Amino acid sequence: MPNYHLQPLDARFGREVVGLDIESGLDAETAAALKHDWLEHGVLVFRGMGTSPEVQLKLSRCLGELEPHPIEMFRLSGYPELILLSNENGPLAPIYDFGEGPVTQCIPWHTDLAFKPTPNAGALLRMVRKPAQGGRTGWLDSAAAYDALDEATKAEIENLEAVYLFRAGLEDMRYNQPGGTRLSPRKDNYPHFPPVANPFVWTLPDTGRRVLNISTLNIDHVVGHRDAYGDALIRRLIEHALDPRFQYVHDWEEGDMVLWDNRRTMHAAFGHPADQIRIVHRTTIKGKVAMGRLCPEAEDVAA
Ligand SMILES: [Fe+2]
Repeated sequence: MPNYHLQPLDARFGREVVGLDIESGLDAETAAALKHDWLEHGVLVFRGMGTSPEVQLKLSRCLGELEPHPIEMFRLSGYPELILLSNENGPLAPIYDFGEGPVTQCIPWHTDLAFKPTPNAGALLRMVRKPAQGGRTGWLDSAAAYDALDEATKAEIENLEAVYLFRAGLEDMRYNQPGGTRLSPRKDNYPHFPPVANPFVWTLPDTGRRVLNISTLNIDHVVGHRDAYGDALIRRLIEHALDPRFQYVHDWEEGDMVLWDNRRTMHAAFGHPADQIRIVHRTTIKGKVAMGRLCPEAEDVAA
């Protein structure tokens, strides 16, 4: 028997892991059960269990090969597989004003690395220091969103792809753009990422489940339909997918950890006041399956 049990979250998917002792209770059977439950439920919440970097790494290693951040400045000193997300020593992310003062770390619904052919399999966040206000994170069940599509729409998108691009700022988004005024300067010294085409329907490599793949941060146009039809289709699919019935929003306490399946779900960071400190440690579980393809014919829109 695994050394924990599961409880429902305030959502139609995801589970809370209860009773797990990560330091001494991660035997092989428990590790295998955690990996199964991660893929079965999409999101696992570990309230208060994230007591140290070592605990986070031990749990993460049950799930697959970890992927260090490609840029060394984002790695936590002494822990190359831990990614440090902190605004303690200056802004981590752009600052915007959405009408209520400067806000940072606002990232609309997305799949990590949606702009690469091989997205990562998942990630685990640990809240080290939470801001006094805001800082919530949401997840969305893309499998349930697919299941809830009408049959005509399922057939319509079955063989369609969309082009996805790296986005350096929210103002570059073509859909689901949150508005707001940018307060921090643009720093566009990012590498060039060639455009990628992804099917709208992903079949997950581990479970065979089908998901509606539509990372709103990155999606640009429907392959073969850079026209009003493609634009309307993307808007319709996004409106469907962002229905609150598919969402779980986590109010963090320090020590909480949340693990997600990056291909089964989308996630969003809702931001916090830019003058408040938020420190998160993250591990990334490497993806090894190409879900899309490079799309050189769309290079003109990525330039
Ligand atoms: Fe993300």
